[in-house]
Amino acid sequence: MPRSSRLHYRSRLRHCKLRHAYSCANLWLVMSPSDSVTSSLPGPAEPVALGVDPQSLIKLRELQSEYGDVVAVKSPKGRQGLFINRPDLIHRLLVKHHDKFNKGPGFERVKMLLGNGLIVSDGTTWRRSRRMIQPAFSRKQLHKLIDMMHKCCLNRAERWERLAQSQDQTVDVTREMNDAGLELILRAIFGSDYDNSIVADGKNPFGFLSKDTTRDLRVVLQVRELRSLILKVIEQRRKQPSASDASDYDFLTMLMGQTDKEGVGFSDKELLDEIITLTVAGYETSAGTLNWAWHLIASHPEVESRLLREFETKIEPGAELDSNLLATLSYTQQVLDETLRLYPPVWLFTRRAVTAFALGDLAIEEGTDIYISPLVLHTTEAHWPNANRFDPERYAPDKTHEDGLSLAFSLGPRRCLGEYFSFLEMKLMLATLLPRFQLRPQCDVQPECELGINLRSSNAIHLNITPRAT
Ligand code: HEM
Repeated sequence: MPRSSRLHYRSRLRHCKLRHAYSCANLWLVMSPSDSVTSSLPGPAEPVALGVDPQSLIKLRELQSEYGDVVAVKSPKGRQGLFINRPDLIHRLLVKHHDKFNKGPGFERVKMLLGNGLIVSDGTTWRRSRRMIQPAFSRKQLHKLIDMMHKCCLNRAERWERLAQSQDQTVDVTREMNDAGLELILRAIFGSDYDNSIVADGKNPFGFLSKDTTRDLRVVLQVRELRSLILKVIEQRRKQPSASDASDYDFLTMLMGQTDKEGVGFSDKELLDEIITLTVAGYETSAGTLNWAWHLIASHPEVESRLLREFETKIEPGAELDSNLLATLSYTQQVLDETLRLYPPVWLFTRRAVTAFALGDLAIEEGTDIYISPLVLHTTEAHWPNANRFDPERYAPDKTHEDGLSLAFSLGPRRCLGEYFSFLEMKLMLATLLPRFQLRPQCDVQPECELGINLRSSNAIHLNITPRAT
């Protein structure tokens, strides 16, 4: 390995001292034998086991620095795979050739958690579900959730007020963002039933999701218990459609009202799978991004100052934070984009070719597994110079990027459905809390990354909090 790559690799490793935390680590990437298709490509002769675990990041970085951006890999069971780290090829693959792939058998175990919801389904099932769910995520509909989102942020501000007045003046932003993210997505899904049914007895039965990091079998079983609770809400709504507040907009109402081309709606099982999918996909990713954003803002006062200036000049005191106003927060958008570059929650995903086809000069055979890592791509020096430096200027409005270079939300028809939702939520959270509180790191130690299905911080991030003078 050249010295510069070695240094880069080591410093990144120091930055992300990786822990093996997931018992279901190889969840997505289970492989089985097939014929060799990419023997002419560079790659190691020995087999490589790749999965959503810390060792795989180390391995992917080694492969990239030793063999380049297109590497042939063979699994221990002999299945042919390809690690692709070239933006143009990734873009072509996910956008133009999306129909040549499914998500692969590695998703079988994720199905234990998410059933056959949108993230794991393929083919006609996925197309039907996406068509039926997409309208709930139109901008017009999502704007109806902004007031609710803002209220969640204001509640957090009240909590932070107390923390800032407390003796140790510390905020656990990891916990805070997880709790806030979970509350926010559950309110978006269940509307007034969140208060009336979900947390009616004072406890949040979904609460374990924001505390448990393992996503192991125990969590799968707990999620199964949630299904009966969700089913009760669905049955209640079917019996008394007017029971949920008519002024409420929520995803459940939207999903219950949708039909496919044949006029058939979601079955109860399908509805349950989609609700669990939206819950899990919807809170952990945005909450994780905000967790890292607070850490980065707290340790970069110059970025903090620019954000404050933006809020001060664009948000008049007492102004309603509506979609038009949120759209003007361009520097906030840059900060979030840059956070997502350095810490993409979905740091590795796969596809499996269901047919043979040509990807540029590459002949891809049926059955080939493709590995794409937003984290490796976003931190490859050749694609992002000074890749480990936090620099929101990379996303300044006058900068253009090659297609496929920013991958946090994936690309093409399977691109994240909740992208706009998450930016509304994340901008509101920063715009509500940052002008009220100053956060500062408690020590110089960098938080470490934990790599499982999602990228998280391995320990909770604690920051010093002080109220700003008003
Ligand atoms: C910072 C926030 C988020 C990030 C970085 C993120 C990232 C991603 C990525 C990379 C995928 C594609 C995975 C693949 O192709 O294998 C995805 C899919 C998806 N995401 Fe997100 N996500 C975020 C927030 C959300 C939110 C808030 C929701 C829902 C409220 C959501 C719902 C979904 C759904 C339903 C899919 C499956 C789409 C499909 O296959 O048709 N995500 N997300």
